[in-house]
Amino acid sequence: MIEIPHNARERFGNARSVAFLTGAGISAESGVPTFREAQAGLWARYSPEDLATPQAFARNPRMVWEWYQWRRQLVMEASPNLGHEAIAAMERVIPKFHLITQNVDGLHQKAGSTRVIELHGNIFQNRCFREGMVLDLVLESVDPPPRCPHCGGPVRPGVVWFGEPLPQREIHEAESICGDLDILVVAGTSGLVHPAAGLPARAKAAGAFVIEINPEPTALSELADVHLRAMAGPALVALLELRV
Ligand code: OAD
Repeated sequence: MIEIPHNARERFGNARSVAFLTGAGISAESGVPTFREAQAGLWARYSPEDLATPQAFARNPRMVWEWYQWRRQLVMEASPNLGHEAIAAMERVIPKFHLITQNVDGLHQKAGSTRVIELHGNIFQNRCFREGMVLDLVLESVDPPPRCPHCGGPVRPGVVWFGEPLPQREIHEAESICGDLDILVVAGTSGLVHPAAGLPARAKAAGAFVIEINPEPTALSELADVHLRAMAGPALVALLELRV
């Protein structure tokens, strides 16, 4: 049973405009590893610089492609958990609802969320490494990665890598949402990767009440009005119960 402090119960129960900002932690209960956890995190075995930068892909496209193919498989086999489902249900009961995610796994959509602002792209999308365009069809190659059917260049996953800008429309929309909110719920993120990690401060400065859900303290915990030290699934179910 998750204890929600009185001030958060009252604010969340009555809020008209609520946004959720999610990170890798919300998919942890679906068996998808987070990035920075000491033992099990994705960056425990590999460094981000080796796998998640344009330079790494230029250096060793096959290794980077195959790592993403492994992650695609992992995510494909995963099912949404209680946390994704509670957020999908909240979309139906909160008048002004927004969902912003740093995740690329598509599990929010699988749970039934209809409008997801994906700040870091989507792992199932393919893009041409040379020209950047999104590709519906790719040419399979005996030597992975596949090739772009237009220019023959290597195909990369449609995710944002370190050192790359976020998609303009998405980050502007997220910033504008955070400028006019009653509540921002931040679930399952370490709050270390900018500009996404700057959104809670923006929301708070504009008057929003910030609720953090994370079993561990994070870079955002001090800023949050309430920190629910719990796993995302049960904590989000407890929040949903305040609205039904
Ligand atoms: P991190 O791996 O940095 O952080 C995951 C957070 O989830 C940690 O703070 C954990 O304590 C927390 N956590 C773990 N299990 C949880 C659970 N069951 N419920 C709630 N929280 C839990 O992942 P992100 O903050 O998402 O970017 O990382 C941000 C970005 O860094 C990612 O989008 C990715 C990465 O590099 C790119 O690839 C561009």
